[in-house]
Amino acid sequence: MQLLLRNIRQLVTVRSDGKPFLAGKEMRDPGILERVSVLIEGDTISAIGPAASFDQSLGDDATVLDASTYVALPGFVDSHTHMVFAGSRENEFAMRAKGKTYREIAAGGGGILSTVKATRSASKKELKKLASKRLDAMMKHGTTTVEIKSGYGLDEESEIKMLEAINELAEEHFMTIMPTFLGAHALPPEFVHNRQAYIDLLCERMLPYIAKRKLARFCDVFCEENYFTAQEAAHILEKGLALGLKPKLHADEFKSIGGTPVAAALQAVSVDHLEHVDEAGLQSLLKGNTVAVLLPGVSFFLRNPYAPARRLIDAGIPVAIASDFNPGSCMAFSMPLMMTIACTQMGMTPEEAIVATTLNGAAALGVSDTLGSIEVGKQADIMLYDVPNYRFLAYHFGVNHVAKVIKRGVLLEFP
Ligand code: NIG
Ligand code: FE
Repeated sequence: MQLLLRNIRQLVTVRSDGKPFLAGKEMRDPGILERVSVLIEGDTISAIGPAASFDQSLGDDATVLDASTYVALPGFVDSHTHMVFAGSRENEFAMRAKGKTYREIAAGGGGILSTVKATRSASKKELKKLASKRLDAMMKHGTTTVEIKSGYGLDEESEIKMLEAINELAEEHFMTIMPTFLGAHALPPEFVHNRQAYIDLLCERMLPYIAKRKLARFCDVFCEENYFTAQEAAHILEKGLALGLKPKLHADEFKSIGGTPVAAALQAVSVDHLEHVDEAGLQSLLKGNTVAVLLPGVSFFLRNPYAPARRLIDAGIPVAIASDFNPGSCMAFSMPLMMTIACTQMGMTPEEAIVATTLNGAAALGVSDTLGSIEVGKQADIMLYDVPNYRFLAYHFGVNHVAKVIKRGVLLEFP
């Protein structure tokens, strides 16, 4: 099957030329072309050029879409979410409005553990139903690839239930889904007086089982005061790595406790949050290819400081932006909204924000060879927006500008 997106008003390619990500000054140039066409064959982008150049090569059954009023971008790659969960936490939202902090609420028994309770009680079918609706909504807002973490089960049965739900959704839904094991999201109540026993359970039972069934591609740890130490994180991630799960890490969200250098030393695919990254953490990232995944929605939602995006980008560290969609610290999945916050609060330019939510997001999942940009040979995940130019996406915020969704070469219809 051929699909021609004809005469696109403005095409943001995020051209990588074979590089796994764009960093430093390269992030300022997302490869903009005007009035070009994109030919898709099957699920792959096969050619990009002026409309006239395709007149000969089109088959009789080709679909031609007039894209002359649209701006095209690669589908967003949301490289950090906790979007499989049951229950909700609007009560905490209301408490924060009155001045309570996320950490105070967590210390009082709310936070992650409140979602753990609801998620443990939900069946796999219920979790899938809730998540499937969210995936539809994410795709309607421009996201075509999403990473999903476990971590609201915190016991063997419930963590496996979450991972099975994520893997089944990956089979059944059009979204590209990457599963991450986050058994070390918080210490479950049953183990408060015996943390080592929980870490042993993670490393000796859960990780080997998950690896054997290939239920997760990545292993992640919430490295934070009152959660897991840098030393514990290193131990868990090393165990995962030995079993074939690539490391990711939540680090420096509320305090810097040495997580980032651990992630860098293990050559983690990404280190996420970094709101409080210190000089040692920043220096550690200069050496490798670990992507810094920043989560503007969390700082916005929790009224926390923002990660030092400018410093990271100017130092040449590859920066991605993700939503962290979860019921506690960011109940939002709109990537254009994340771009708006990145531009208004973190000093990123609209161009950098686009690179950070597409190609560099794919790099944070190790899949930028096939996803995250509009280049010949890549998978055809393309969004068409009803805006005059690409800057409107972050500039005109609070509305959904998506006009058409093309996922794996298929033009999707939404009710
Ligand atoms: O990335 N930091 C750990 N996990 C989430 C919060 C999850 C929750 O509050 O339920 C985060 O911010
Ligand atoms: Fe998170």
